[in-house]
Amino acid sequence: MKKVLVTSALPYANGPLHIGHIAGAYLPADIYTRYNRQKGVNVIHIGGTDEHGIAVTIRAEQEHVSPKEVVDHYHESIAEDFKRLKIDFDNFSRTSKPIHKKMSQDFFLKIYNRGLIEKREGEQLYCPHCKRFLADRYVEGECPYCHYENARGDQCENCGKWLEPTSLINPRCKICGTTPIVKKTSHWYFKLDKMQEQLEKWLASKNTWKSNVKSFTKGWFNEGLRPRAITRDIEWGIPVPLEEAKGKVLYVWFDAPIGYISSTIEWAEKQGKPDLWKDYWYDNDTKLVHFIGKDNIVFHAIVWPAMLMAYNDGIILPSEIPANEFLNIETKKISTSRNWAIWVHDFLDVFPPDFLRYYLAANAPENSDMDFTWKDFQAKINGELADILGNLVNRTYVFTKKYFDGKIPSPGDYDEDDRKIIKLIENAPDSVGKLLDNFHVRQATFQIMNLAREGNRYFDYKKPWNLIKSDKTKCGTTLYVLANLLNSIAILFSPILPDGMKKIKEALGNNDLHWNNAGKLSIKPGSEFGNPGILYKKIDDKTIRREEDKLMDENKTNETDMKNKEKNTEKKEYVKIDDVLKLGLKVAEILEAERVENTDKLIKMKIKIGEEERQIIAGIAMSYSPDEIIGKKIVVVSNMKPAKIRGIESNGMLLAASNGATLSLITVDREIDSGSSIK
Ligand code: MF3
Ligand code: ZN
Repeated sequence: MKKVLVTSALPYANGPLHIGHIAGAYLPADIYTRYNRQKGVNVIHIGGTDEHGIAVTIRAEQEHVSPKEVVDHYHESIAEDFKRLKIDFDNFSRTSKPIHKKMSQDFFLKIYNRGLIEKREGEQLYCPHCKRFLADRYVEGECPYCHYENARGDQCENCGKWLEPTSLINPRCKICGTTPIVKKTSHWYFKLDKMQEQLEKWLASKNTWKSNVKSFTKGWFNEGLRPRAITRDIEWGIPVPLEEAKGKVLYVWFDAPIGYISSTIEWAEKQGKPDLWKDYWYDNDTKLVHFIGKDNIVFHAIVWPAMLMAYNDGIILPSEIPANEFLNIETKKISTSRNWAIWVHDFLDVFPPDFLRYYLAANAPENSDMDFTWKDFQAKINGELADILGNLVNRTYVFTKKYFDGKIPSPGDYDEDDRKIIKLIENAPDSVGKLLDNFHVRQATFQIMNLAREGNRYFDYKKPWNLIKSDKTKCGTTLYVLANLLNSIAILFSPILPDGMKKIKEALGNNDLHWNNAGKLSIKPGSEFGNPGILYKKIDDKTIRREEDKLMDENKTNETDMKNKEKNTEKKEYVKIDDVLKLGLKVAEILEAERVENTDKLIKMKIKIGEEERQIIAGIAMSYSPDEIIGKKIVVVSNMKPAKIRGIESNGMLLAASNGATLSLITVDREIDSGSSIK
């Protein structure tokens, strides 16, 4: 039998977990692991916290503590959240451990010695006020691709693109707000371009992969992979293992995925079998499954496999990368900085883990973003977990107790209705199993709940309260079939609802969870049906209102805070008329326009400002086609320093309005000559 190695993205140890994290990677990974284990597959779930990088140092600066204090604290809090939520790991490590440092440096050196890492002089943003290089998240600005205004230096949260800080439009220092300058520094670059061919070939064979992963990687290949800096000028991180790179550390996304391996090594060592990790990582029969959220796609589907290929010592490549979309809350995107989030620990202070697990499984953001709303949460828990599943358990128990003294009755001959339920039982492990094998947790949840729906229908139709008087054997048959249906449901739902299903199994006096046995009638006549108690207690309106208020309140204080902040900065940053005139805003007419090859967003155009003709490049191709803008009169900043965008000269900048989603060119609304000034 194949081995399965499950990983889930290592969360940054820079804050507590929210329910979006759980829906994206951890719950699906836990369900998949539990399911495989119940099938008897040799499976391990490996995880840990990601403890390097700017995500951590920024938090440390904000809280006025050391990075070490930050990661120590949040590693514990994250591990605790997982434990409470019954998300189990065979090993939950930390990337600050010595074994991880050793592995990461080994990766760097091997790849370096193969000539796939090289030193380059590069340009980096430097904050003259803070007197330091602004790596990754230390700088924010407008995304050059989607024009989202608060993109971080290393990645745009909005479109998911992996960025170079120098490509941001209007960059600013995250700490002090100063506009950074560009300064030269040397860094070590991983030659991703050299890996493109091999990567493309490998990815082409993954035709069952989800379309979000496939289309993302295709986009990258079309643009052409480029070498990427994998070192940083900061103090927190794994030192680059080269004499001449003193003071530099590895980029967090270089070391983090290696954490999957170092955590497995730690796991093997803990069991006194230090080589056991190799049974997984070096065996082509191991299915390596990385559960991630969609913002991690490029790192897992391109960079990490490229690192493994470059490392080239027989370590296997990912078999599957199930990447989920995002979970929104009450239709709004989760934002930790704006406190628009539901924290796992807060949630578990009020509700049992099965509630969150059920809701997130039934609403898994598998193919599109999904929404968490408190009202819908209440409706699903009450209407499905309590009214359908809980009710079936309860009434089957109560009738068995009342009519058969709490003992499972012997079945008589089966009629057509009984046979229909038995058929459902027999088919269930296969059909639900196929869904879980293919990461369709949402559909699997629906199908299992449907078994309970069918059970209730059967119950209503059979009316055991009448049968007991007219045909006791038939009544017994019904309850026997129902007890077996419950056993089957309990096995199938165990990966999703471990706590509640354990109660059912205990009540039935059967602790066998083997997946395939969910297709059998293993609850024997004469065995005891103990009291399962109330499986799932309903949620009342008051509780939900309290949660809704909590979310809104926290957000409100936060929004007022932000507004005040905005007001203050407005005051400080008044401009004078001279400042505006400096820009040389002019009306320009677009004479020619064409797409820039191999880019999604760029249009090259020839414009006329009075008598002068110029070429400019603008990132508007997502919103406009070249044809439709020819002849338009737009507004440009004419005093812009000429710049090269993708090697093409751009001499001026056009103005457009944008809210992140819609982009609109600023045009003039009456006939006026090009070259007219704007004031
Ligand atoms: N810490 C990253 C995040 O939360 C995920 C790292 S996954 C790993 O986005 F593979 F690199 F570990
Ligand atoms: Zn973007």
